[in-house]
Amino acid sequence: MKPIRLTIALGLMLVAGVALAKEDPTNPVVLKRVEAMRAMKAQVTLLGDMAVGKAPYDAALAEETAAAFTTTADLVPVLFDAEEDDPASDALPDIWFNRGEFNQKADRLYKAAMGLDWKSAGGLAASMNAVNAACKDCHGRFKM
Ligand code: HEC
Repeated sequence: MKPIRLTIALGLMLVAGVALAKEDPTNPVVLKRVEAMRAMKAQVTLLGDMAVGKAPYDAALAEETAAAFTTTADLVPVLFDAEEDDPASDALPDIWFNRGEFNQKADRLYKAAMGLDWKSAGGLAASMNAVNAACKDCHGRFKM
């Protein structure tokens, strides 16, 4: 491929990437809960990477990340307290008709977060499963 064609191809790939990226909600309440979710994803990814050796295991960083994650997990019911919507939101309205069930799933996440054994990579690997299952459990029921 000639360099100019390659440049165009790369440019098109970038445009496609931008189009696929999720836009941010403009409703500040929705943005706040979405940002908390993104933060949890980053934290869980880091802990998971340490668990499998994709990232070097660092006890201090693991403890700090697990603590920050637990704090955010604890906030989930509060973050979804107000029935707020946004065109960019993936939240199902069922959340506000089934608060009890939603909060139960949030509690499941919090308990899994509290159960994180960050003291070794092996401990992380064993205790991450409950966390990942709790994310999936709620998304399957309350997220588009
Ligand atoms: C109690 C329910 C619940 C639990 C538990 C939960 N989520 Fe979510 N999550 C949601 C809902 C609802 C949305 C959609 C929010 C919106 O778009 O308004 C969401 C959205 C997200 C998003 C998309 C954010 C964006 O950019 O739009 C990510 C990423 C995410 N969650 C990660 C996680 C991870 C990782 C976990 C577990 C550590 C988790 N979630 C646990 C309910 C939950």
